[in-house]
Amino acid sequence: MQNIAIFASGNGTNAENICNHFFSSKKFRVVLVCSNNKRALVLKKAAKLQIETFLFTKHSLENSFVVEESLENLSVDIIVLAGFLLKIPSRLVSLYRNKIINLHPSLLPKYGGKGMYGINVHREVVKNGERESGITIHLVNEAYDSGKVVYQKTVPVSENETAESLLAKIQKLEYLYYPKIIETTF
Ligand code: GAR
Repeated sequence: MQNIAIFASGNGTNAENICNHFFSSKKFRVVLVCSNNKRALVLKKAAKLQIETFLFTKHSLENSFVVEESLENLSVDIIVLAGFLLKIPSRLVSLYRNKIINLHPSLLPKYGGKGMYGINVHREVVKNGERESGITIHLVNEAYDSGKVVYQKTVPVSENETAESLLAKIQKLEYLYYPKIIETTF
């Protein structure tokens, strides 16, 4: 059994989907949901699913070992980022080398990097008249959105696409593929 910790900063719809996917798995178990945002809906969702939560600040993530300690206490093997908006400090990247995975709502390296998250990504894609977008699932290294890509899936961007309609298309792909790719990667 491999223990998963999910890091999320917002709504946590992917986090919830991943928790449900692995609920009766014999290989993976979500043991912890971590967030840097005390108002994040993901914390309520995790509590409802009776999964332990851990709240930390950007400062404590970067300057202390509280996050590492909470991961160690629950023997966490894999960190799954699901809408987590802070950069993972290099200390944590090397502790969990090739064991941290991220989901990004565009075809990286396009529309990646700082500030590129959630609806902002889709607004840029639509604004630039791209004909396709998609999702990227990648391992996390020391730089934003540039670790080894393990999976990409493309969707067409239609003539009258809006950021909101593109978000809905992309979300469907995220819910369908992220849990499966976690399973086959680790
Ligand atoms: C997802 O679309 C995910 O791809 C994106 O945040 C959203 C989280 O939604 N991640 C990034 O933009 C990372 N740079 P959720 O909180 O409803 O799961």
